[in-house]
Formats: sequence, structure tokens, C-alpha cells
Amino acid sequence: MEITRIMIIGAGAMGAGIAQVAAQAGYRVILNDVAEAFVQKGMAAISGTLDKQVHKEKISSDDRKIILDRIIPSTKLEDGKDADFVLEVIFEDFEAKKSIFETLDTLCKPQAIFASNTSSIPITRLAATTKRPEQFIGMHFFNPAPVMKLVEIIRGIKTSEETIAITEQIAARMDKTSVRVKDVPGFLVNRINNAMRNEAKNCLLEGVATIEDIDTALKLGLRLPMGPFELEDFVGLDVALNVSKTLYDGYKDVKWRPNRTMEQLAISGDLGRKTGKGWYDYTSGEKKPRTDIEF
Ligand code: CAA
Repeated sequence: MEITRIMIIGAGAMGAGIAQVAAQAGYRVILNDVAEAFVQKGMAAISGTLDKQVHKEKISSDDRKIILDRIIPSTKLEDGKDADFVLEVIFEDFEAKKSIFETLDTLCKPQAIFASNTSSIPITRLAATTKRPEQFIGMHFFNPAPVMKLVEIIRGIKTSEETIAITEQIAARMDKTSVRVKDVPGFLVNRINNAMRNEAKNCLLEGVATIEDIDTALKLGLRLPMGPFELEDFVGLDVALNVSKTLYDGYKDVKWRPNRTMEQLAISGDLGRKTGKGWYDYTSGEKKPRTDIEF
């Protein structure tokens, strides 16, 4: 089956990033969200990133226009009726995703493939909300999607080999490297990364080192682009907490128990860079240690 038209449901940072990558790979893209304002925000983000690429002479201004023209803004799921591949990239709420997939199942053509970028909800559970579990797959991108080279491809219990092969071809055309992963809690990268970040928080709790020193140590000692606390502030403490809870619920092992301070920060609305405070304070425009909380 040839894939030419991809619908992306959710025009937030991840959805917009993936839409950009898909359009740059030559696909026709339908970028959908519930409100016009959300779609326009996503389009503006894509436009801004492409502007930077033009400025750096990585693409021409003609390319920029061609890429943007390939993306059709949408606020109606009906716009996906001719899509060959639909990727859902909304917030992590099973009921919300279920409702979207149930609707799409009735609207989209029977051969269309459905995918979710979920980082925490089992693919088999999402697939079971549709009448096409063989054509349902996990396609998990990493933030920021235009930069990060990896795509985890998660096979639900009924996902067909053809669906996997097509998804791998899409990832390759987007210039991503894919790995096949079984449908287990946290999949692969978040499972391993969460274990490291939990251990970093245990070190903080035991007073082994400060947040800043733990980040510095792991960046310089392991050549990571960001330390564990910087990374959580980057992806959002709400997202990180969600992943942590999924692992704890899924494996029922105390080693995955979400860190209490992370939970408290998230509950109090300190979600990292996007709210100005998380493990660090960004309110001055720069990353600074927090002085209002004793960790
Ligand atoms: N969108 C598009 N491009 C972006 C971008 C964004 N949001 N942020 C940075 N870039 C581009 C820049 O334009 C720049 O491009 P060029 O090389 O073409 O000039 C390049 O990325 C490097 O950016 P910067 O020089 O500004 O900054 P940097 O070198 O510090 O890199 C970073 C920034 C890429 C975010 C880097 O710090 C990094 O790799 N961090 C770790 C990210 C990570 O681990 N992501 C995974 C999170 S976990 C996840 O996503 C899974 C989940 O389910 C929660």
C-alpha cells in the first residue's frame, strides 16, 4: 500500500514537529486539532522552525513554501477520510484517544493505518477501541521531533507484519531510525531513561549531590545532551510523572514508584520550562537553581 496522505491529530509541540518532518519527507499532511487557534499555533511553530532552516541555508525559501503548502490545517476529523495513515499525538488520556479512534474508525477508509505516539498507554488497549487492530501500531517520536533521530515502533498483540513494514518505511522516509519494541509499559527508551532519572532523584534525596551537580556529572560523565533534571524540565514534569506512573502501575515494582518531590512539583503546577519553574527556575529567562524550595 502506498502512503501519500498522513493525518496528524494534535498540533502541540510534538504533533507540529512530526507534521513538519512528514511534510519535509514529501507527504501530504493534514494537521488537526480541536480548535483553529491550536492548529494555527502549530503552523506558526513549523513556520518558525523552517525560517531558522532558511536562515542557516539548510533549505531554500522555495523549499520552505513547498513544505508549508503540503500541510493542510484541519479542525474536523472528517478531513481524514482520505488519509492513508493517521497518527494521534494528543495528551495522554485513554478516554480522549479512544473517542478519537472510534470516530476515525467510522470515517477513514478501511485500509488506512492508525498509529499513536503515546509514551505510556498500551498499544493493544488502544487498538482494541477500533475494528482494525491489525492496522494499529505505536509510532513513538522523541522531543524535539525534527531533531531526534529515533522512532520506537510498537507492535500491539494483533498488529500485522505489513503494518509494521509500512510504518518502518514511513520512519525511514522521514530520515528516522526505527527500532521494533514490544508493547510493554514505558516501551524501551522511557523505561530505561526513567530508571536512570529515578536513581538521580534517589541520589538527590540521599544528599549525594545537588541537582546542578548531578546534571553536570551525567552530561560530562556520559556525554548526555541534558542531565536528568534538565531533561524532565524540558519534556515537562506532567509528562515525566505520567511515564513514571505507567511504569509503576505496569510492573507493580516499588523501584518504579514516582518520586514524591516530582509529584509535588507537578501537582503545584511547576511543570518545568513551559511554566517557568520545575527542578530549576527559568523565570529570569535563564536556567537558575531554585531558591524558593529546599530539595
Ligand atoms: N524544534 C526544531 N529544531 C530544534 C528544536 C525544536 N524544538 N530545538 C532545537 N532544535 C534544533 C536547532 O535548531 C539546532 O539545529 P541545527 O543543528 O540545524 O542548527 C539543533 O536542534 C541544536 O539546537 P541548539 O543548538 O539550539 O541547542 P542544543 O545543541 O542544546 O540542542 C536539544 C537542543 C536538541 C534539545 C538537545 O539539548 C538535546 O538533544 N536534548 C535531549 C533531548 C531528549 O533527550 N529528548 C528526548 C526526551 S524523552 C521523549 O521525548 C520521550 C517521551 O515520551 C517523554
